[in-house]
Amino acid sequence: MTAIPLGVPRRLVEFTLDGQEARVPEGSTILDACRAAGKDIPTLCEGDTLRPKNACRVCVVEVEGSRTLVPACSRKAEPGMEVSTGTERARHSRKIVLELLASSVDLSTTPRVAGWLKEYEAKPDRFGPDAARLNEEPKVDNELYVRDYDKCILCYKCVDACGDQWQNTFAISVAGRGFDARIAVEHDAPLTDSACVYCGNCIEVCPTGALSFKSEFDMRAAGTWDESAQTETTTVCAYCGVGCNLTLHVQDNEIVKVTSPHDNPVTHGNLCIKGRFGYQHVQNRD
Ligand code: SF4
Ligand code: SF4
Ligand code: FES
Repeated sequence: MTAIPLGVPRRLVEFTLDGQEARVPEGSTILDACRAAGKDIPTLCEGDTLRPKNACRVCVVEVEGSRTLVPACSRKAEPGMEVSTGTERARHSRKIVLELLASSVDLSTTPRVAGWLKEYEAKPDRFGPDAARLNEEPKVDNELYVRDYDKCILCYKCVDACGDQWQNTFAISVAGRGFDARIAVEHDAPLTDSACVYCGNCIEVCPTGALSFKSEFDMRAAGTWDESAQTETTTVCAYCGVGCNLTLHVQDNEIVKVTSPHDNPVTHGNLCIKGRFGYQHVQNRD
């Protein structure tokens, strides 16, 4: 049986997950229950600090009585529901999604995707070399962060983080429709001419590395980016009295990027430009 530890008491919902009885607090998603039960369901557009958008459909599961497969990341567990996560139909659907994404987008910096492609025996190459790709050069128009939309899966997470879910700056949005849809700032201007305030909250949520620190982008280009050689130290931002938590990623005694813990009850992984990018003084030897 699956049971998620309780924080504030909530009514428990009982349902069946892969033939086993599961109990989760009311409001939990099927994905929450799967994770509590140790089931590895692929996710891409799901974000632990964002409301689900259901953009990628890589997390689908089968629910008894439901005509279509349902996204585990957003569908709430309901009493009496019968959920199956490993049916042939669900696995086939995940495989197709992975194939379509991997054939049209550069997923080389997407964590865990190589393992999922293997697990689902996805063959993105079967669409041939002409599969749709932006073939666009990374947008390097400032010293803080880079936008490489060849890696973008249009998950909307950056738009939501920049917009009404967190930052309320609305610097980025989806431009175009259908095959022409892409993430852009107003009038496709350089970031420096846009409304962007360089909080980097879009980088924090981007699942593919389409948005990255300029430092990471440069180090990857030079072949020196090595996450296995990096340490992470969480500290408190000293710039103002809010006291945001900063996690400093350090390689070769240099800070190479700054993230923020998503479980912080105040900031939920969000920072401002000073906390996110204002670290150079720490390593200024002059
Ligand atoms: S850095 Fe902040 S303001 Fe700029 S695009 Fe990203 S979320 Fe929006
Ligand atoms: S840039 Fe990243 S966060 Fe934004 S839509 Fe593309 S993949 Fe998602
Ligand atoms: S992770 Fe559930 S729809 Fe994308």
